[in-house]
Amino acid sequence: MKFLVINGPNLNLLGIREPDIYGTETLEDIEYWLDEQPDAIGHEIVWFQSNHEGDLIDLFHDSIGKFEGIIFNPGAFTHYSYALRDAVASIPVPTIEIHLSNINQREEFRKTSVIKDKCIGQISGLGKQGYLEALKSLIHYI
Ligand code: DQA
Repeated sequence: MKFLVINGPNLNLLGIREPDIYGTETLEDIEYWLDEQPDAIGHEIVWFQSNHEGDLIDLFHDSIGKFEGIIFNPGAFTHYSYALRDAVASIPVPTIEIHLSNINQREEFRKTSVIKDKCIGQISGLGKQGYLEALKSLIHYI
């Protein structure tokens, strides 16, 4: 199957960005790591990152008919982007939300996700393992 991993704002700075919270691995490190996991083998996994809301929305639209499922880390857009919520709701491709950090154990504003109830589920606080759990959940769901 073909999966799309969409990463939102500031996730391009993983490895440098607040390593005490997000770890020292880059997004590319996580991408290579995921590709090597037994559950990922045999599947095509395409990664994308953007700091721009409109680019992320376009990507959701363009995914129709091309991907079986989407793993989405919306970054800070999680907490307030109704446009991304609508994008997830607008397409027939199942999407799962993932966060490296545990958004429920941080600042108050991070506890709200305006996107998660349009997703098949939310994974939070497992670090890079969350991307793998998201993939497994999507495969199981599909
Ligand atoms: C994040 C959590 C968000 O609150 C934050 O804005 C991010 C990263 C995570 O992966 O833990 O950019 O989505």
